[in-house]
Amino acid sequence: MDLKQQIDRNSLPRHVAIIMDGNGRWAEKKGGERIFGHRNGVESVRMVVEAAGELGVEYLTLYAFSTENWNRPRTEIDGLMALLTRAITNETNKLNKNNVRLLIIGNVTDLPKSVHKQLMQSVEALSENKGLTLVLALSYSGRWEITDAVKKMMADAASGKLDPDRVDSNVLESYLATAFMPDPELLIRTSGERRISNFLLWQLAYTELYFTPVLWPDYRKEHFYEAIIDYQRRERRFGMVSKKSGALLNH
Ligand code: FPP
Repeated sequence: MDLKQQIDRNSLPRHVAIIMDGNGRWAEKKGGERIFGHRNGVESVRMVVEAAGELGVEYLTLYAFSTENWNRPRTEIDGLMALLTRAITNETNKLNKNNVRLLIIGNVTDLPKSVHKQLMQSVEALSENKGLTLVLALSYSGRWEITDAVKKMMADAASGKLDPDRVDSNVLESYLATAFMPDPELLIRTSGERRISNFLLWQLAYTELYFTPVLWPDYRKEHFYEAIIDYQRRERRFGMVSKKSGALLNH
């Protein structure tokens, strides 16, 4: 039976997050510049967006550019920005045909103005779509997001809009960039690294983590199906009582 058929459509993760890693190493292995790896990574993005949409996953969040990525050499940053803008702009029609909605999370004011403008045009063009929501994390980090949420809460408290005594985890969550979506049930990281690297720190509290040695530019639909199948084999407990043993488990 092929991998896609092994997936139980009734227990799909609603939200899958991916740390797309290994573009630089892939390029190095081929004797190319790092941007060569990023360019080939675009095809992998296309494949997972298609795979997630076809399966019926509701949200797909991709870590496309982290706050820390601003420390990379200027030429790589410029190349990545141009690549991202071009890829999104060129794909907008196809994304629209596939009913994909696009959202951006991150400190977008840090992005070059022209990049920001073009991305927002695509976000706007796709805003009415009801299929897969593709979330691009751009100039994003989990610590930035939580800090930003705290700043906004403090401003609201100072202006009397928010009562500090009412603040609980639900209130904090409502100030996060991801307030509109469920936490990811599954996080995939490629390239063999086993770290969270400042991605969705708050939202990953109970997420199943899946690490694969495949470098991002080699990532294809089958790899995505494998991750979903692995996720479906795991018993998800949320720190409660196991269905099997009845024992109280630590999470
Ligand atoms: C990590 O590899 C990858 C990135 C920082 C960029 C990911 C961006 C793309 C795949 C471009 C297209 C994206 C979209 C959404 C159209 P790395 O450079 O850290 O690799 P290394 O760890 O091997 O050096």
